[in-house]
Amino acid sequence: MSSAKNNTRLRKNAGMSTRAIHAGEQRQRYADSITTPIVQTSTFAFPNTDEIEAYTSKGKERFEYGRYGNPTEQVAQRRLANLEGAEDCVLFGSGMSAVITTILSLIRSGDHIVITDDAYKKTLEFCTGYIQRFGVDCTIVPFGDYQAIDKAVRKSTRFIISESPTNPYLNIFDLNRLREIARRHKILTLIDSTFATPVNQRPLEFGVDLVIHSCTKYLGGHNDILAGAVLGRTKLISQIRDLHNAMGGVIDPHCCYLLLRGLKTFPLRMRAHNESGMKMARFLEGHPCVLRTYYPGLESHPHHAIARKQMSGYGGVVTFEIKGGLRAAKAFLNSLKLCYIAPSLGGVETLVTHPGLVSYYGRTRKERYALGIKDNLLRLAMGVEDCDDIIADVDQALRKSVKK
Ligand SMILES: Cc1ncc(COP(=O)(O)O)c(C=O)c1O
Repeated sequence: MSSAKNNTRLRKNAGMSTRAIHAGEQRQRYADSITTPIVQTSTFAFPNTDEIEAYTSKGKERFEYGRYGNPTEQVAQRRLANLEGAEDCVLFGSGMSAVITTILSLIRSGDHIVITDDAYKKTLEFCTGYIQRFGVDCTIVPFGDYQAIDKAVRKSTRFIISESPTNPYLNIFDLNRLREIARRHKILTLIDSTFATPVNQRPLEFGVDLVIHSCTKYLGGHNDILAGAVLGRTKLISQIRDLHNAMGGVIDPHCCYLLLRGLKTFPLRMRAHNESGMKMARFLEGHPCVLRTYYPGLESHPHHAIARKQMSGYGGVVTFEIKGGLRAAKAFLNSLKLCYIAPSLGGVETLVTHPGLVSYYGRTRKERYALGIKDNLLRLAMGVEDCDDIIADVDQALRKSVKK
């Protein structure tokens, strides 16, 4: 079922926090509950055959079967659509399910797609290793090389897919330039905006066609769910929803409840992530044990000017190169007392990961270095603890990394 209808109770210009709490909901809910109930059911009963016919032939909006929609899911979809400024949204059981279902719903044999080279590893793997089985060709272009993107487009090109900010270097795609290229060639644009969230960047306002999120990250915000979303115009989203209904990688109602719960504090949390990210980036940039810090809010970041134009905050992820190589990186991680060593980002707990040891495990050192994944590279995903406590933990671990 479409999630296109927005909540009419809200003022048109209601603020982000108000929308994050109220958007998508009916004013009166089951048993006058303040929270959206978890409708834990796999199917929905018809009271009689007239109701079946009203639904099947007269277009009555109602629920039929869990794979095609659920009331808790519908509220979450409507809320996300409202926050992103989208006509419609479809939720998935994970971010990757959102990415892959979207790609599959848009391509046909003989098509060609363009992807930038520092897209999320699994997205890149799917585009370079799987879609060829369906007769679809893919060109990888260097991130930030707009001429290369322009040149890569063919008559058969269906869309350009990229991310902003990217992982782990937090590169920023100039969305105005993306729109210009795409409009000229009449192709679609897909942006994975997971690292930005609608608080910091809204790609649809720049003319992007589809926005993808791993809601596992900031939108859920508590390191306790897996979820994904695609947002955009109703026509495109319906096409994606049709395939999603068949593929069945649906999100369950309990997970939707947790997502809705997380969303209520999402703008508040983002404020804390943005502040802590900036503070940590400045701290690391001036630290004697750190070689280089990557954060789009820093003047030293190569895409700082673009970030300032199209983002209102820079998020909680800070990437840095530690002095001393793999030995120092391991010593740093093993000395942390408060931050967890874990992949992922956007939750309330601060997580630190070593992309070379975790996400790029199995690749040779040469392959990793070609992708910029060096032995001394660490990625810090700030939670919402008191920033000074995280800085103190990182500082003591950095100092130990030199000694060990
Ligand atoms: C930018 C980005 N997109 C997509 C995904 C996939 O999301 P999920 O883990 O929810 O499947 C991730 C996961 O880390 C990600 O970082």
